[in-house]
Amino acid sequence: MQQFNYIVFRRPLPGLVTFVKEMWVLSNEIQLNSNLNEHDENHKLRTFYFETLLLPQFPFGMIDYNAIASILNHDGGRVEDGRDINHGDRGAELYRKEVPRHFPWLDHNSNAYAIAKHNQSYGDNGKKPILENMYVPKNIEGKIFALVGDADRGDLPRCDFFDKVDLGYINTEFAKQFFNTKMHRDLYNNGINKLKISLKELLR
Ligand SMILES: [Fe+2]
Ligand SMILES: [Fe+2]
Repeated sequence: MQQFNYIVFRRPLPGLVTFVKEMWVLSNEIQLNSNLNEHDENHKLRTFYFETLLLPQFPFGMIDYNAIASILNHDGGRVEDGRDINHGDRGAELYRKEVPRHFPWLDHNSNAYAIAKHNQSYGDNGKKPILENMYVPKNIEGKIFALVGDADRGDLPRCDFFDKVDLGYINTEFAKQFFNTKMHRDLYNNGINKLKISLKELLR
């Protein structure tokens, strides 16, 4: 088994753009419900976009691939809009069933953890559901959870009832600085259509 892992990890990784395209297609194919409104393809596109803004605060590496795999699949287990309280667990199960055979070299434990926990209402210690309040197992990279949570919350302004992202629920420094700025808010006025077009071109 050890030998097998060695061979897998010695393979060159795909370029990031190729990886995003392939994971985008896979995530669309495996998601349970593709007819959602608040959690449609555009929510996935925008959370992916926020993740690409948040990632450069960490050194480039496997974290980029894993965080992208997680964000593109984070709502894959949704069966309906609204709270759908089990969608994190459902999505993690779906991820484990479908993603590893296509991308065996990803950190599946950390990605499934991030997906399973992203909609938890409270941290493991009963406080806000941010990384410092989670009891993260030793084999899990908690930064993936932090990034998925931040990128997902960054898209809250899409909801009409929503006023501001509560920064008490945000993990990473860049997200704390960027969310609620004019640039962030403007995405939801005229910028969002341009963003949709350019990301769809990237994914074509
Ligand atoms: Fe979600
Ligand atoms: Fe989401």
